[in-house]
Amino acid sequence: MTPTETRPFVDFDQVWLAYNEELLAKENFAVEDINLKVQQGEFIAIVGPSGCGKSTFMKLATGLKMPSRGRITIDGQPVTGPLKISGMAFQAPSLLPWRTTLDNVLLPLEIVEPYRQQFKDRRKEFEERARKLLESVGLGGMEKKFPWELSGGMQQRASICRALIHEPKMLLLDEPFGALDAFTREELWCTLRDLWEAQRFNVILVTHDLRESVFLADTVYCMSKSPGRFVVRREIPIPRTRDLEVTYTNEFTDIVHELRGHIGALRAPPRAGLTAVTPPGGQHQRPGEAGSTVFPQ
Ligand SMILES: Nc1ncnc2c1ncn2[C@@H]1O[C@H](COP(=O)(O)OP(=O)(O)OP(=O)(O)O)[C@@H](O)[C@H]1O
Ligand SMILES: [Mg+2]
Repeated sequence: MTPTETRPFVDFDQVWLAYNEELLAKENFAVEDINLKVQQGEFIAIVGPSGCGKSTFMKLATGLKMPSRGRITIDGQPVTGPLKISGMAFQAPSLLPWRTTLDNVLLPLEIVEPYRQQFKDRRKEFEERARKLLESVGLGGMEKKFPWELSGGMQQRASICRALIHEPKMLLLDEPFGALDAFTREELWCTLRDLWEAQRFNVILVTHDLRESVFLADTVYCMSKSPGRFVVRREIPIPRTRDLEVTYTNEFTDIVHELRGHIGALRAPPRAGLTAVTPPGGQHQRPGEAGSTVFPQ
């Protein structure tokens, strides 16, 4: 293998972030000592209790925030400002109500260089790209509709298309399906799975839903609360392509239970339990047993 093949796509090297100078002076960090290496095309999920620093991690990964300490390298480049190679989607789809679905999806191409300069000349081609993307997530024929004419699930599909229209190398999703009902959410898992399998961009997915993380990700990271740091890394060995049927298998539910054990331990005061967690059912692996890496505290 050449060095390029082994080089991680995302590399967080001892990254700490305090939100301002005052907090830094008090050593009050929102996230601390984040070490993370993500391979090209890998799909990772981050789970952890509310307020632990998941969104802060996302701001660091997109270059919206600079670390107080440590280094972040993405696609071989040190991160020094907002990244163009990423697309983002959040819990609220945040589509512009005065734009049609198609025009919402086209928005990043009107804003982000080099597309911005080319937008007028290449408009037809860009529209075709947007149509294809909408078609691939089941929104063919909805191009002319306004966001308020779409269901919540449809809006979220459109917002994922908007995040992917400039063909980013990295897709960042912060609780993208949190506001949806269980059936729609599972449908969108499959939509995301299919897009990822076709294009193999890197995905960082933040979610509270452990089933979602196990269904979609190659690797799941658990974050501890305040200050946030990664405390568990769990590879998901379930073969792809994964169908929803897999969520009813013992292998799947065992991993979900194991992760729930980790999260339960993280919520128990004070930093207790990492060595003595019995997940629901009692029979499952404990943190640190086969399959998980428990990072030093
Ligand atoms: N702009 C900010 N200024 C100061 N502190 C902040 C700021 N944004 C977040 N924080 C703090 O950083 C910590 C992590 O917040 P963050 O939003 O990353 O949590 P989270 O894991 O995304 O939570 P949730 O699951 O509820 O979305 C919290 O203690 C929060 O109060
Ligand atoms: Mg958040």
